[in-house]
Amino acid sequence: MKKIIKLHVNNEEFEILTEVHKTLLEVLREDLGLTGTKRGCDLGNCGACTVLIDGKPYLSCLTLTVDVQGKKITTIEGLSLDGELHPLQKTFVEKGAIQCGFCTPGMILTAKAFLDEHPHPSAGEVKKAISGNLCRCTGYVKIMEAILSVAGKP
Ligand code: FES
Ligand code: FES
Repeated sequence: MKKIIKLHVNNEEFEILTEVHKTLLEVLREDLGLTGTKRGCDLGNCGACTVLIDGKPYLSCLTLTVDVQGKKITTIEGLSLDGELHPLQKTFVEKGAIQCGFCTPGMILTAKAFLDEHPHPSAGEVKKAISGNLCRCTGYVKIMEAILSVAGKP
């Protein structure tokens, strides 16, 4: 069954006609063309589909779109401001924390939500914060370095 759904994504309002059973991941990618949000496991295990809902990280593959109407959704496409990359995006590039890049949108959004609440974290706290985001390429060392660097701990 289709229904009109209103969504607030990356500071824009959208009104779309879509299937009520669709996940937020499906709607972002298929209806809104926001393919920065990645489909990894589709089971809640990898974190690749992480987006921010009212500033908190959520797995969009486990989130029904009808449940997030009226909430503020941020995807990786919405993180840059006036064409400028977010400091986390810049630092991930500079520190070599991106290899294939598949985990990167989810990793960066998880890190953003974490740093917003914990601006001066320890390495252990960062490790715990990103423990739900799997990366098959980097070994996590560069990712940790990038996040700690943004937190002022080079
Ligand atoms: S795609 Fe959502 S957790 Fe893996
Ligand atoms: S950079 Fe390839 S999965 Fe993380």
